[in-house]
Amino acid sequence: MSKQDNFDQSNWLAVCHAAIIRALMEKGWAVCPGYLEAARYSSLQDDLYRCDREGKFTPAGIGRQDDNTLLPSIRNDRTLWLSKTNPAQAAFLLLMEKLRCDLNRDLFLGLFEYEAHYALYDPGGFYKKHLDSLRGEKNRIVSTVLYLNTEWTEDQGGQLVIYDPQSGQRQAEILPAGGTLVVFLSEDIPHEVIPASRERCSIAGWFRCNASTAERIDPPR
Ligand code: OGA
Ligand code: MN
Repeated sequence: MSKQDNFDQSNWLAVCHAAIIRALMEKGWAVCPGYLEAARYSSLQDDLYRCDREGKFTPAGIGRQDDNTLLPSIRNDRTLWLSKTNPAQAAFLLLMEKLRCDLNRDLFLGLFEYEAHYALYDPGGFYKKHLDSLRGEKNRIVSTVLYLNTEWTEDQGGQLVIYDPQSGQRQAEILPAGGTLVVFLSEDIPHEVIPASRERCSIAGWFRCNASTAERIDPPR
């Protein structure tokens, strides 16, 4: 990568992060198409499918640690937690570290760490309307979803539906197109994944605050 490419890329990130922060302040959610260019989200997509062929994914549950229960009537995707030891995954985690610092600088959110997983929905897969965090429960403060799907069209379904927390009305239907990043407040914004006619892949992640106390170390997930 040349010096100019490097500059363009960090400039683009700064522009995206500023727009995300503004939208979070105004309405609690943000959509950033083209956050990652094709070459970068394709290498994540390749990595995701490689990990899936290696049988590393497991059916997704609801809740954390001990209360992680499988509820296929609510969601039926498969997931794999990202790790810094994998180069493609580490590159993405580094970008989210930059976003974490920018969010803390401008919104004083005290975001402490980030956890993220690949998610793979088979055709017809869904995740019913939900919040990512019940107040005080999982200390997830800000959610992110990055889509890794090539050439997604509207008739293929699979939209992320964002609901207004007050009125319950649909506010947006976002296509899971490769490179699009969605960011929203985990405790406030109800959302839903509607079924698609094809396989759908993404990285869902959460910035968390630290809720450890003297009696209990905050579990990582
Ligand atoms: C989630 C989620 C949205 C999406 O994993 O909690 O809401 O569009 N994902 O994949
Ligand atoms: Mn969610």
